[in-house]
Amino acid sequence: MGELLGRDIVSIHDLDLDEIAHILDVAATMVPAARGQEQRPLLHGRILAELFFEPSTRTRLSFESAMKRLAGQVINFGELSTTSVVKGETLADTVRMVESYSDVIVVRHPQEGAARLAADFTTKPVINGGDGAGQHPTQTLLDLFTITQRKGAIGGINVTIVGDLKYGRTVHSLAVALSRMGASLTFVSPASLAMPTEIVEACRNEYRKGNGGSVRMGSDLESFISAADVLYVTRIQKERFPDPEEYRKVANTYRVDVELLGRAKGSCIVMHPLPRVDEIDPAVDETEHAIYFDQAFNGVPVRMALLALLLGAIP
Ligand code: NCD
Repeated sequence: MGELLGRDIVSIHDLDLDEIAHILDVAATMVPAARGQEQRPLLHGRILAELFFEPSTRTRLSFESAMKRLAGQVINFGELSTTSVVKGETLADTVRMVESYSDVIVVRHPQEGAARLAADFTTKPVINGGDGAGQHPTQTLLDLFTITQRKGAIGGINVTIVGDLKYGRTVHSLAVALSRMGASLTFVSPASLAMPTEIVEACRNEYRKGNGGSVRMGSDLESFISAADVLYVTRIQKERFPDPEEYRKVANTYRVDVELLGRAKGSCIVMHPLPRVDEIDPAVDETEHAIYFDQAFNGVPVRMALLALLLGAIP
């Protein structure tokens, strides 16, 4: 485990298991302050810059809430159309300038690799808030926090991940992290949206190291549902399809409803990074399985922990 002060968090590979465990431990101590029940002015006078080149609700608002709960400030460029990006400014130039306005930078961008590029142009810590179909490491941290809260140990559980595994960046980071922790994975998707080979291989590689666990893949959710301890549902990432016709072919492939969950373990938790479109029936919200809104709240304490650690307010 290295010091987190000043580090970039671009991919889940940037963190070893001890560092992840430390972030989650610190996150647990942040919960009362994240709820506004306690004051933790650890980042007074510090500034977070948000460079969001893509739509966002949760990631953006939970980073803002996290920074403000720690008494820090947030700057962002609001509507993209009001920025110099429309004049053709490069990401590299934007970052070089923003680093002199802030202490830590969160980047969300439609292109895979954009956050890594941004990190190369600044000495300030850069956090990847999602790069195209690449990675979304802070979502993974909050997903791990949520699973640990509900299930205790991650080793040995079965996590069934369903939906758009090709373009869904949250599951790329999550699958790798879970395999390192010894969870078994079931990837369920239409064949055209299967988990990229390099992610499947990265997971298998972890299992070969002897951590336990295995990967199964298929397209029929019903045949896998009874084994799931966690059902992680994702949205078909419409905006990433080069051809709208291809999207139409796979839209509405899966819909998790109360009837399907009747065949799941009573203790199976249903997660979703949100936003959902129609892949989870709203009636599921009323069941014990549904934890996606608690999961979204967890974005705040987890991001508080990460910001406090990267900025050296907590060792
Ligand atoms: C996800 C994203 O942007 O990758 N949303 C999020 O950050 N919670 C998932 C999605 O958009 O489907």
